[in-house]
Amino acid sequence: MKAIVYDKYGAPDEVLELREIDKPAVSDDEVLVRVRAASANPYDWHMFRGLPYPMRMMTGLRKPKSRTVLGSDMAGQVEAVGKNVSQFRPGDEVYAEVGSGGFAEYVSVSEDSLALKPANLSFEQSAAVPMAAETALQGVRDKGNAQSGQKVLVNGASGGVGTFAVQIAKHFGAEVTGVCSTRNVDLVRSIGADHVVDYTQEDFMQGDQRFDLILDAVGNHSISEYRRVMTPRGTYGAFGGGGGRWLGPARSRQLYEASLVVFGHGDDNLPPGTKRCSCRTVQSSPSSLQRSRPPLLSPFSQGVQGSAGRWWPAVSSRSSVR
Ligand SMILES: NC(=O)c1ccc[n+]([C@@H]2O[C@H](COP(=O)([O-])OP(=O)(O)OC[C@H]3O[C@@H](n4cnc5c(N)ncnc54)[C@H](OP(=O)(O)O)[C@@H]3O)[C@@H](O)[C@H]2O)c1
Repeated sequence: MKAIVYDKYGAPDEVLELREIDKPAVSDDEVLVRVRAASANPYDWHMFRGLPYPMRMMTGLRKPKSRTVLGSDMAGQVEAVGKNVSQFRPGDEVYAEVGSGGFAEYVSVSEDSLALKPANLSFEQSAAVPMAAETALQGVRDKGNAQSGQKVLVNGASGGVGTFAVQIAKHFGAEVTGVCSTRNVDLVRSIGADHVVDYTQEDFMQGDQRFDLILDAVGNHSISEYRRVMTPRGTYGAFGGGGGRWLGPARSRQLYEASLVVFGHGDDNLPPGTKRCSCRTVQSSPSSLQRSRPPLLSPFSQGVQGSAGRWWPAVSSRSSVR
């Protein structure tokens, strides 16, 4: 079968190759899926770049431990099932976060990681869901505990995670402010944001609005800056952004400040007048789709959709992840 693979770290033009490789074997607990669409996430970029560096402790120090097929998220049709698989059968339309292997004609996936594709989504829309939506869902619902009537700010509202965060926060009844650039203002408004801040024109840090929950996919402000525009008991959640070659999405300034806020000060120790916020990091995991299947599918079947806005044929994978 054809697949986009890499066996060294570097720029997409240097390391990504369209190659003929063996079709994956299917163990007793796995499902062989014929891939119909796959999406590109910042995660894929980190994997073939080998950045941030500490990640290489797991993936291989100087080069990947083995040849890797690119692509974390995919949607497709079940081709065959292992003998212990009970929930899927050939022909089922499915989607999953697979970690790697999505940019190929076939991928084998453990039954536990797979979910049936919602009927109202295309393969392309479904492939844009798993990692970004699961991360947003954790930020809005699990770590952020968004409630009806709360004021929620999504920084990076036009991106993969941000578009889901806006829609899920609206689903829970929050009043949502989305921050994006000029070209995406209409998009962010169209997915339900009550207020949109074009960061090229205005700075939400200078406004009067105070937020109960800030979800940050960009990382261009410090936590102390965010605290100035948060309610006294507001929550800040970091999805990623910034951090460079060493820390990547785990940004030094935020983590340092988070440890001060969460572990260094209890309520009683804060100087009078100091605002307190709780800080969370949000981490998606390969089996997350399985764990969150009912709540994840419920908002999506009601119309929450992925930001599958640009398309590339498989042979143009280098452009899609640049
Ligand atoms: N923790 C996890 O498990 C997890 C999972 C997925 C992603 N992430 C991380 O979360 C981050 C975002 O991922 P993503 O998939 O949403 O990326 P993405 O699709 O590239 O979106 C990032 C968005 O940030 C916006 N942006 C850029 N500069 C901005 C600024 N100064 N102010 C406000 N918005 C700005 C861009 O919007 P404009 O084009 O409108 O400027 C873009 O749409 C990445 O760092 C990624 O690694 C973490």
